Amino acid sequence: MKTTSENSSCSINEKSACCSPKETKPNNDLIAHWDSAYEKSPIEKLGWYEKIPEPTIELLNKCQLTKHAHILNVGAGATTFVDVLCQLSYTNITANDISVKSLDFLKRRLGTEKSKQVKWIVDDLTNSNTLDKIAPVDLWYDRAVFHFFTEQKDQNVYMNLLSKLVKPKGYVILAAFNLEGATTCSGLPVKQYDQTMLQNQMGNSFTLLESFDYTYSMPSGATREYVYTLFQRK
Ligand SMILES: C[S@@+](CC[C@H](N)C(=O)[O-])C[C@H]1O[C@@H](n2cnc3c(N)ncnc32)[C@H](O)[C@@H]1O
Repeated sequence: MKTTSENSSCSINEKSACCSPKETKPNNDLIAHWDSAYEKSPIEKLGWYEKIPEPTIELLNKCQLTKHAHILNVGAGATTFVDVLCQLSYTNITANDISVKSLDFLKRRLGTEKSKQVKWIVDDLTNSNTLDKIAPVDLWYDRAVFHFFTEQKDQNVYMNLLSKLVKPKGYVILAAFNLEGATTCSGLPVKQYDQTMLQNQMGNSFTLLESFDYTYSMPSGATREYVYTLFQRK
């Protein structure tokens, strides 16, 4: 990670974007884009829908978390991983997305009782107002979100937030399109990664415990190539 010794308000491992003046205006175009993506087609037809998030469950099992562990799913959308966590009796789940519509779909699917067990945070990972103030997390989970941040300043803001929130010995599951993956998703450009590139993004405070490539079959039958990684904070 780059250090920012020129500015004394930054801690040693923070990336340079931490010192830019805070942008407080919501990115209404991005919010509208994602709200519309979730409204214009059934959840089960979205190009990232998983009936069972198998590769994530595989990595979750490696973490051996207690049922009280704080699990943060960033850019959760309407993911079925939150359903899985509820079924497995995890009691401290936070789901975030920039799109309130996506989280509303997820809440409805979970039903009133289960959705009360989850903390819901509508916030922008690259311009957070709330996420940056939550309790530290034992597991940060991101599937198909970080790769949308094609500009380095957004990648830096994201990684600074992650570094701020993940506890020592805490875990990060990060899944992105791999080098064979698509170059756009939901009409937006994405950046492709391999495990080394993700390790570089995460920096030296995180150890890569496991990674694998995974071919995801979309509801349309087309496939998308992902790289899944599991990191642990030192
Ligand atoms: C391709 S979807 C993946 C959704 C979910 N992670 C899954 O695997 O089903 C990308 C998600 O990232 C969310 N997203 C995009 N930019 C975001 C941002 N800046 N902050 C928070 N969420 C964001 C979108 O609303 C969308 O739900």
